[in-house]
Amino acid sequence: AQNERESLFIVSEFANNFFRDYLLNSSEGQSVGASYFIERGFSKPVMERFHLGFAPDGRDLFYKTATQAGFSQEVLEKAGLVSKKDDNTYLDRFRGRVVFPIHNVAGKTIAFGARILKTDAKAPKYINSPETEIYHKSKIVYGIYQAKNAIRQKENCFLVEGYTDVISLHQAGIENVVASSGTSLTVEQIRLIGRFTDNITVLYDGDSAGIKASLRGIDLILEEGLNVKAVVFPEGDDPDSYIRKVGGEAFTRYVEQNQKDFIRFKTEISLEDVGQDAVKKAELVESLVLSITKVPNPVKRQIFYQEVAKLLNIDEAILINEGNKKTVTNL
Ligand code: CTP
Ligand code: MN
Ligand code: MN
Ligand code: MN
Ligand code: MN
Repeated sequence: AQNERESLFIVSEFANNFFRDYLLNSSEGQSVGASYFIERGFSKPVMERFHLGFAPDGRDLFYKTATQAGFSQEVLEKAGLVSKKDDNTYLDRFRGRVVFPIHNVAGKTIAFGARILKTDAKAPKYINSPETEIYHKSKIVYGIYQAKNAIRQKENCFLVEGYTDVISLHQAGIENVVASSGTSLTVEQIRLIGRFTDNITVLYDGDSAGIKASLRGIDLILEEGLNVKAVVFPEGDDPDSYIRKVGGEAFTRYVEQNQKDFIRFKTEISLEDVGQDAVKKAELVESLVLSITKVPNPVKRQIFYQEVAKLLNIDEAILINEGNKKTVTNL
């Protein structure tokens, strides 16, 4: 199994070099791939830093190149780079797409995400590598290798949804950022970030899916004992589109002015809906208390109870009592 992992690392590195070379040194790569990235505002250095590439729009150019270089059909299939068809021919997984390699913490290529050029097509916007022996989607965050030093230094990690959010922020000089890559955030991903900092700021997309995912992510982050804040972007924007619209400085100002701890985040999200409705207010309080019970540190819990009491004008002792009841039933 160790040998198999090693061969998957090697073939992934080979594929990464193939896609990069094709982006930089083929006419298709230049006219289609590079111009796509340039249109999105990605600079050459940032494209290099993330090893961005392009997969040719044919059937099997990668497959042919890799087998000629000595890679077996078996290892190419195991890496999820090609698939075998009914007629026993092999088909490249990534075709006519820009390629985002996914690196592990040590900087080794372990998988790929690949984006279609025009989203009006019927095909899915992104195609990703399948799970392999070296790639477990739920255990990695995109960009961790490029971000880890900045995360340590800033003592904070921005968590975004997508590949392009990570790259656009880097482009603007904000390097402490990783993506959960669309999957719902997992405990393993939080622990990975937790190796570098105790503080996460969730910057998900400004749509209802992003807000819902933020609420879920917040509770999970609290449970892992990390500190969490969250920002809501204007409807329809994600960090990538927003930073391109307003620039790095205004982006940072927006984040600083709009980041909320989980209590304010939850409260403000549901405030419109709650209004004067006592039942809805009670439900909000209950959900806040439930979040607080997940915080492992008792001092922090105490501070959060005080905050809710003040913000919603409810007796703190009642909140603590409710929390203790929930903690008992949680066990
Ligand atoms: N994603 C995916 N498969 C899809 C859609 C999304 O794997 N069919 C993942 C990708 O990692 C993507 C992330 O979820 O980066 C966030 O999705 P979305 O917000 O839809 O895409 P963006 O990252 O905003 O991509 P773009 O700006 O290129 O449209
Ligand atoms: Mn490399
Ligand atoms: Mn999204
Ligand atoms: Mn998005
Ligand atoms: Mn986007």
